[in-house]
Amino acid sequence: MPTQTMKAIRLHEFGGPEVLRHEEVPVPEPGPGEVLVRVHADGINPPDWYAREGMPDIPPELKPPFDLPLIPGTDVSGVVEAVAAVADVDGFAVGDEVVGLLRFPTALQGSAYAEYVTAPASDLARKPAAIDHVHAAGLPMSGLTAWQFLIELGHDHPSPFQKAQHRPMALGSETTVLVNGAAGGVGHLALQLAKWKGARVIAVASGAHETFLRKLGADEFIDYTKDRPEEVARDVDLVLDTVGGPDSRPFLRTLKRGGSLYPVYFGKFDDEENAKLGVTATQVRSNGAQLAELDRLLDAGTVRVALDSTFPLADARAAHERAARGHIQGKIVLTVA
Ligand SMILES: NC(=O)c1ccc[n+]([C@@H]2O[C@H](COP(=O)([O-])OP(=O)(O)OC[C@H]3O[C@@H](n4cnc5c(N)ncnc54)[C@H](OP(=O)(O)O)[C@@H]3O)[C@@H](O)[C@H]2O)c1
Repeated sequence: MPTQTMKAIRLHEFGGPEVLRHEEVPVPEPGPGEVLVRVHADGINPPDWYAREGMPDIPPELKPPFDLPLIPGTDVSGVVEAVAAVADVDGFAVGDEVVGLLRFPTALQGSAYAEYVTAPASDLARKPAAIDHVHAAGLPMSGLTAWQFLIELGHDHPSPFQKAQHRPMALGSETTVLVNGAAGGVGHLALQLAKWKGARVIAVASGAHETFLRKLGADEFIDYTKDRPEEVARDVDLVLDTVGGPDSRPFLRTLKRGGSLYPVYFGKFDDEENAKLGVTATQVRSNGAQLAELDRLLDAGTVRVALDSTFPLADARAAHERAARGHIQGKIVLTVA
């Protein structure tokens, strides 16, 4: 068993990156159905900074309960250090290398910015053997978001965004998919999943990402700083808009009749309008079984996680400052062990 204390990043109040403090805290104990993971790396995601800021833009009904001080982080790659005393953890043993999106969205954050974290076994999958912990840590939230939007929802929880359940459109060689924000965490994985399914992919990003996105398989590239994608792209079957919000609406003009728009950051549409226009959205949920399917694609080299940058755990503040500058290409990852 580990020592009784560990290093972790905590926030005691909401605010900018400066509220992230590197502190000594007790090592948590796994409860029923959980394992204790010795963390090697944490992927960082937009909900990490939404939580750090106190989620000012998130409607109250979508905010999970939380207490301060809080350890942020949902995405982890590491090694199982211990399993719960009660013998109810199937599938994982001490020493297994694992990856997971922890407790999302049931908890505000999964406490992953730490040397140890407890994890529900159902949120975990084996780490892909072909890649290291740093790359694996970039996978969970972005990969599961792309998977649940494009491939399989995997649950029947009601959507927090609309009455209709999100049902991914079948993708194949006849399908054209436009990915907006294609260079980011969700976008670069979504592009690769659409290519895996045989679709033709149009990637939209700023010009600096063109070579990167073509290497990942983009068939066409639109630099949104030079051209308005909604004026250039036509006859698209599916738009996955990872930038989203109110700016999603112009993408409706690019769609074929019967096409769909999936805004990952949901904008303002009403239910009737959604049904008429083919707009559906969902909120990513932890899912170890789906992560295991993604792992197989990473092991086969079909999909890869690209790294924007890495920072030691103690420099989480610098990682959040990097995120705030935008233009992310792939994932920002904290290295722990
Ligand atoms: N529904 C869900 O469950 C769910 C799950 C995960 C994430 N999200 C949301 O999805 C969004 C994306 O997440 P992420 O992790 O992929 O973020 P990210 O890694 O920060 O990527 C955002 C990307 O968007 C690009 N971008 C910014 N403005 C753009 C514009 N006007 N047009 C085209 N591209 C633009 C950025 O680079 P360039 O500007 O240089 O091209 C960057 O590569 C976030 O808002 C997040 O909250 C939702």
